[in-house]
Amino acid sequence: MIEPPDTPERGEVLQRLVEAAVWAPSAHDTRPWWFDTHGETVTLHADTDRCLNVVDPHGREMLISCGAALFTLRLAVRRLGRRPEVRMASDPDRPGLIADVSLGPPQPVTDEDRQLYEQVERRRTHRGGFRASAMPVGLLQALRADACAEHVSLRIVADPRMRVALAALSDAAEQVQRMDPAYVAEVARWAPPPGSERPDAVHEEACPRDPDDTEPHVAERDFARGQGWGMTGGEPREATGVVALLTTAGDGRTDWLRAGQALQRVLLRAAEDDVSAAFHTQVLEVPELREFIRTRFCDATYPQMIMRLGMADAEFAGARRPAAADIVADDL
Ligand SMILES: Cc1cc2nc3c(=O)[nH]c(=O)nc-3n(C[C@H](O)[C@H](O)[C@H](O)COP(=O)(O)O)c2cc1C
Repeated sequence: MIEPPDTPERGEVLQRLVEAAVWAPSAHDTRPWWFDTHGETVTLHADTDRCLNVVDPHGREMLISCGAALFTLRLAVRRLGRRPEVRMASDPDRPGLIADVSLGPPQPVTDEDRQLYEQVERRRTHRGGFRASAMPVGLLQALRADACAEHVSLRIVADPRMRVALAALSDAAEQVQRMDPAYVAEVARWAPPPGSERPDAVHEEACPRDPDDTEPHVAERDFARGQGWGMTGGEPREATGVVALLTTAGDGRTDWLRAGQALQRVLLRAAEDDVSAAFHTQVLEVPELREFIRTRFCDATYPQMIMRLGMADAEFAGARRPAAADIVADDL
């Protein structure tokens, strides 16, 4: 766990903030961010070279990922006992510039900050079914409140017919995407075959070889592209879990960054209760299907993430590789 330093040097403090931020989830583990530091400020930038141009031509998922890193930076500042001061950037000439996060005045660290921060490195994306255990009492309500505090709605899909419809749409998206050679090439770029030494990207150790058969079955993204790699073993888990959508009132840069901050807040809170999330964003990458979901299932708000939440076993924990050391360009 990244401990806040006891007698912090300024450079060390900022380094710790960045080290925490890079544990945020990102589409295909692209880690589409970089940071620079000045004074008591960390500046977060989107690394547009790491955007998924085929599935994410407008950078929506890239900015959701950066939003998740931004929430982590805010939390890490609070964990240091300082108030985070965030200045969102909106410079059309520098679209990659996201936000300055500065160390504000001292403030007491709360138990909530501590507990949430402890999940930063512990949280992992789950792929597969869940155990059939019930969700902890009150958790979904807490997650909805967390998303709401970030100006985002967490919609729980309780209607069984809607769950089946969303599962079918996810499968349609997966099939349609696989028909596109550019999509297949993009996944191949970010899911290298076993043996690759890269720190980023989705590796074999993060994917089950045979996805569990849940009912309804929400299609997994096929990172192995039918080549039969992925982890074996572990008990089959048959529960779909709680299906949920994160939605926003608008669909621009600010909304995507908010969705990312809400996402990370929800994921860390869920992790406190050993609840993990599995993502199925393919269906939101096919514009016609996203529009269908928006109008039919989201009261015309914009779906940004679709996920299943549930209790998983820990066999893939640790599957993600640590960040490379060169993410800060700066004066540290
Ligand atoms: C915007 C976004 C979209 C994602 N879409 C998917 C997805 O469709 N399928 C999937 O298995 N994981 C998806 N993920 C999870 C990432 O693959 C995961 O965060 C990354 O591999 C790093 O692993 P970790 O979350 O375990 O740290 C998504 C994450 C984000 C932030």
